[in-house]
Amino acid sequence: MKKITIAIDGFSSTGKSTVAKQLAKALGYVYVDSGAMYRAVTFYAMRNGFIDKDCFDKEGLISQLDNINISFKFNAEKGFAEVYLNGENVEQDIRSLEVSNFVSPVATVSQVRQQLVKQQQIFGKDKGVVMDGRDIGTVVFPEAELKLFMTASAEKRAQRRYDELLERGDEVSYDDVLNNVQSRDHIDSTRKDSPLTMADDAIKVDNSSMNLEEQFKFVLKLSEEKIREINA
Ligand code: CDP
Repeated sequence: MKKITIAIDGFSSTGKSTVAKQLAKALGYVYVDSGAMYRAVTFYAMRNGFIDKDCFDKEGLISQLDNINISFKFNAEKGFAEVYLNGENVEQDIRSLEVSNFVSPVATVSQVRQQLVKQQQIFGKDKGVVMDGRDIGTVVFPEAELKLFMTASAEKRAQRRYDELLERGDEVSYDDVLNNVQSRDHIDSTRKDSPLTMADDAIKVDNSSMNLEEQFKFVLKLSEEKIREINA
């Protein structure tokens, strides 16, 4: 049975990673969270003093890119692969609102993108991969057999992310989360290198009024149809 590549792009907090994990599990595919890679680079930059609220030393970060190693290791208990930065599990650290506030500027840097895209293409070279992000269907895998573009209202997305952060025990306000969602959407969609746009051949999924189960059923059906078509 031939495997396909599934590219899931979309705005922040649209539930891409939730549905990508569900799909990968149902199809026996590998899930790669490309956003986690940009978050890990950002966490490295914060820790090493290359970015804070007053400055972003791009050149400093670029000079260190060869010293940043990002990998994923499957956690059987959690059922998905966690992200490691230079051998350290940073899965929890990279999900904070602080990292979210710095990640989009870091993701505008072409040298960062080139390095991560190269690694993402290696992860997907054997197909059988579900990858989510902003440029997966346009830049990383323009030949992906199935491309989905997820969207929902900013308020709905901020509410979902706010609930997630509260559940983790983070002290954040809904307004700060909404501001972050809107500001990342703006930076991600207007940057020069690989802006967030819907690929011409992507299928738009607006999940503002879909629950998780409805959304999963919908994208699973699309995936199964595509796999049947490729194997016919
Ligand atoms: O918060 P959410 O899960 O929606 O975002 P994410 O997938 O963790 O991605 C975090 C940030 O990384 C995005 O806001 C983008 O700035 C950047 N990113 C990117 O530029 N390209 C990708 N393929 C994935 C993420």
